Parts: sequence; C-alpha cells; structure tokens
Amino acid sequence: MLVDRHNRVVDYLRLSVTDRCDLRCSYCMPESSACYSAAGDWLSFDEIVRMAEAFARLGVRRIRVTGGEPLTRARLPELIGRLHAIDGIDDLSLSTNGTRLAAQAAELKRAGVARLNVSLDTLDRREFARITGRDCLDDVLAGLDAAAALDFRLIKINQVWLPDSSLAELDRMIDYCRQRGFILRLIENMPMGTAAQAIGSRSLQSVIHTLQARHGLIDHVLPGGGPARYLCSPDRQFSIGFITPISQHFCDRCNRVRVTTAGQLQLCLGQENQVDLRPLLRDPNTSLGAIEALIRDAIDRKPLQHDFTSAPHKVVRLMSATGG
Ligand code: GTP
Ligand code: 5AD
Ligand code: SF4
Repeated sequence: MLVDRHNRVVDYLRLSVTDRCDLRCSYCMPESSACYSAAGDWLSFDEIVRMAEAFARLGVRRIRVTGGEPLTRARLPELIGRLHAIDGIDDLSLSTNGTRLAAQAAELKRAGVARLNVSLDTLDRREFARITGRDCLDDVLAGLDAAAALDFRLIKINQVWLPDSSLAELDRMIDYCRQRGFILRLIENMPMGTAAQAIGSRSLQSVIHTLQARHGLIDHVLPGGGPARYLCSPDRQFSIGFITPISQHFCDRCNRVRVTTAGQLQLCLGQENQVDLRPLLRDPNTSLGAIEALIRDAIDRKPLQHDFTSAPHKVVRLMSATGG
C-alpha cells in the first residue's frame, strides 16, 4: 500500500498519454500558450504498462487515462486493453474532450474503459467555439450520443465554471444531462499556467446554495475516485457534482498522483514537486522492484496541499501537461 507522510492512501493514478490536444480551451491551452513536448520524450506503451504494473503492485487500483486529449494518441484502445489486463486494476476510466468519441467509443468500451468523463462547457455552438477555439460542438454531441448508446458504468460531464458562465445556460446543461442520464459536474477554474491565471476563479458556493434551495438537494455518493462532492434531489431523479479546489479544497482526502506523457511523476496538481520515472523505465535492466522503490520514495514527498489561493501564479505547468 502507498501511504504518504500525511497518512493518505494513494490508490489512484492519473495517466496523461499525450499533452497534445485538438481544442484550445481558454482556461487550459489557448492558441497563445499551446506548446507540446517532443514525441521522442513520450513513454512508450511498454514503459507505461510496466510503470502501471509497479503502481498496481503497490496498491493502486484506479487508473484514469487523460491528456491533453487522449484520443489523439495513436492506438489508444490497445493501451487501454493492456492496462485493463493488469492484476489489481479494477477501475479504468477516461477523461476526454469528446471530439473523436463518436468513432472510438465502442472500441474503447470493448478494450476496458468502464467510466467516461467528457468536457463540455456549453451547449451553445458559438459560445463553444469561443471557449474552445474550435467550432466542433456537433462532434462532441455526436460522441456523447455514441457513448450513451453503449453500456458505460457512468458518463460524467465536466463544465468549468467561468466568469461569464450563466445560470440560464446551466439550466440547459442540467436538462441535457438529465435527459441522457449523464452526471453534470461544475468545476472551479484552477490557476495553472498564465491563461487560466488571467481568467481567475469564480467560487461555486453561491451556485450550490441556489441549486440546493431550488431542488432541496441532499448529499449523495456516486462511483468515482475524484474530488467531486455530489448532491441529489430527494427523489434521486437529479444529481449534480461540484469540484471546488478554490472555495473548499479537498487536499486532506487526496488519494492520487499523476504521470505526464514524458514520465514525470507529479505529486500534486497544484505544486511543481515531481520525480522523473523515465530513466528507470527506459533502462531494460531495471527490475520492477526498483521502479516500485522509486515510486515509494516519491510518494513520501507528496505535498500536503496546493497553494492556489495563497499563491495563484505559482504553477506555470499547463493543465494539458498533466490532464487535470
Ligand atoms: P472520477 O471521480 O473518478 O470520475 O474522476 P475525476 O473527477 O477525478 O476526473 P476528471 O478527469 O473528470 O477531473 C475533473 C476535474 O477534477 C478536473 O478539473 C481535474 O483537474 C480535477 N481534479 C481531479 N483530481 C484533482 C486533485 O487532486 N486536485 C485538484 N485540485 N483537482 C483535481
Ligand atoms: N481548471 C479546472 N479544470 C480544468 N480542466 C482543464 N483546465 C482546467 C482548469 N484550469 C478540466 C477540463 C477537463 C478536466 C480533465 O480538467 O474541463 O474536463
Ligand atoms: Fe484540450 Fe482538455 Fe485542455 Fe481543452 S481542457 S485544451 S480539451 S486538454
């Protein structure tokens, strides 16, 4: 078992399989800050699987595949299949922007993805193009239709709550999700990289109170390993999740670490502490035990919490580098 020095059990690995993306979200990687690592630096599938095996032997049981946009990585279903086959991994999930989901959803499901989280900030085509820099809302909606027709355990929609997000548009998002059985989650913008920092964070607390008053929401639990707090109506017909890293952080319950495309183990989303796993993973003479020892040693240095509120300009790394 992996336990850090703050007594938190780490059983959830977020794996970024590419830092490339086909969108340019204003709060993540707008055109002005787009920058990619060299493909030669990326971990190969063999290296990723070996590393995941080491994590699994140390007690990790959840893996979430992220990006950038993971569906832009060639042969992703093959990697998913190999991760799914690892002993001890019983929750394999994927976070995607949905643009390529229509073509790939069935294959990803067959390969072993159980749960799917899809970014969608608005249902308004022009607003979508403004936020993401690309006019492709229809592709994402087609991807969600394709996914809805399959038997995923749960589909969650991630909406970042931006300075100009409105309650009227939120009502449309709620209706859209409710009709399809998707779980909508609202997320406070995290100040990672200069673009997200320039936008600033807007607290979700008043939205939570408004929805609580309107629907009489009560606490609720849904499958997942992340930081969302879920509420539902008393008849359980309507649920919604909130991810509030700024107004009410959840670092004391943190159960996860991240690995970037190039094999950097990131110990906290909101801190720069990292350990380079790639040299060991790339050396054919390294034993699984040596990789495990390096991971154990790194977990011991996991920071207590992010400093998003006290030092909002501290993290220069883009969200796309670590996949949220
Ligand atoms: P499940 O609960 O397993 O469905 O996944 P998740 O909510 O952790 O995954 P997802 O990729 O959908 O992430 C949703 C949002 O939560 C993103 O904005 C992430 O950046 C954020 N998030 C996930 N883990 C952390 C964390 O440890 N710290 C902070 N501050 N944000 C996180
Ligand atoms: N703050 C909060 N969430 C973000 N995401 C991307 N950038 C940010 C940010 N600055 C979210 C995306 C995606 C998830 C993995 O991370 O909406 O759904
Ligand atoms: Fe791409 Fe996701 Fe970043 Fe948008 S938030 S630019 S979809 S990685």
